[in-house]
Amino acid sequence: MLIKKPVDIRPSEITSKESYFNRRKFMQAAALAGGSIVAGDALPAIIPNEKRAKLEGIVPSEFSTDETPNSYDDVTTYNNYYEFGLRKDDPFRNSQEFKPRPWSIEVTGDAEVTGSFALEDFVNSQTLEERIYRLRCVEAWSMVIPWVGISLADVVKRFKPLSKAKYVVFETLLDRDQMPGQRSRSLRWPYVEGLTIAEATNPLPILAVGVFGEVLPNQNGAPLRLIVPWKYGFKSIKGIVRMHFTDKQPRTSWDLAASHEYGFYANVNPNVDHPRWSQARERRIGADQGGGFQSLFSASKQDTVMFNGYGEHVAHLYDGLDLKKNF
Ligand code: MTE
Repeated sequence: MLIKKPVDIRPSEITSKESYFNRRKFMQAAALAGGSIVAGDALPAIIPNEKRAKLEGIVPSEFSTDETPNSYDDVTTYNNYYEFGLRKDDPFRNSQEFKPRPWSIEVTGDAEVTGSFALEDFVNSQTLEERIYRLRCVEAWSMVIPWVGISLADVVKRFKPLSKAKYVVFETLLDRDQMPGQRSRSLRWPYVEGLTIAEATNPLPILAVGVFGEVLPNQNGAPLRLIVPWKYGFKSIKGIVRMHFTDKQPRTSWDLAASHEYGFYANVNPNVDHPRWSQARERRIGADQGGGFQSLFSASKQDTVMFNGYGEHVAHLYDGLDLKKNF
C-alpha cells in the first residue's frame, strides 16, 4: 500500500479536527437556513470522481435559455484557462492529468460560518440544477452552455456574511506543478475574481460542478467554478479553492493585469467598447458549421445584448450607477 508522507499531502486533502467541527457548523447552518440537507455526516458523494461520469438528480431551471446549446466539442476544446496555457486548445490539451479530487474550499473573512469544507459538503446539501446559459466572452465571442450547478446565493447565505461584508472574493488553486501556465507571468496568480454581495445573492449565479449532465471536465474548471451569465466570461472563475468575505473591493487578476481594459463589474454592455475592440457584436461559436475549430472562422455575428440578455433579473442591481465609469 502506498502511504503518503506529509510532504506529499496537498492542503486540500487534510481534514483537520477544526474543519470537522466547521463542517458540522456548516451543516447546522444549512439546516437552519431551511436547506434540504440530510442529517448526519455520512452523506454520499454525488459528484463522481471519474471523467465523463453522469450526475444524478439534476432538475431543470426556470432561468435556462431556450437557445440551442453549443456542441460538447465547442464547450470542451475552445476554452480560456490561463493556468493551462494561452491558446484556446491549451486547457483541453494540458489539463487532462489535473487532479480535481480530493478538493476542499476555504471560507474566510467577515462571515459567521468560516473554515475548510470538503467539496462534497458544499454540494451534497444543495439542489443540482441544469442552467442553460449564454456565455459572452470579453473577446467578443459567445456560446450557449448547459451547466449543472448549485445556486451561489444559497451557498453564500449558509455562511451568513456579516453586515459589513460587501464583497465575496474567489480564488483559484495555486499549484505550479499541476498548472503549467502558473510558471509564466501571464497573470498574477492565483487567479482572483469577486462579486458584490448583492450580485452573489442574486438568483442567477451558480457554482458549476458539471456540464452536459456530466461532471465538469478539467478544462472547464473542475471540480467547482463560478458562472455569472450577465458578465463577461472572465468573471466566471474556475478551480475555486477559496471564498473570502470582505468590506473591500478586491483587486482581481485582470484588474491587476490591465485595469483600463477589464473593470470590476464587467457587465456585458454593447455600449462600452473594450479599448482595443468593439463590444457591439459577437461571434456565436459554431453557429453555422456544427461546431469545432473550423467554425471559428465562419461563425455568424450577432448583436450583443445588454447584460447578455439577463437584464430583467439583474439591471436593478446597478440602479444609479454610471455603467460607463463602472465598466
Ligand atoms: N478562471 C481561471 N482560473 N483562469 C482563467 O484563465 N478564464 C476566464 C474564465 N475563468 C479563466 C477563468 C475566461 S476569460 C472565460 S471566457 C471563461 O473562464 C471561459 O470558460 P469556459 O472555458 O468553460 O468556456
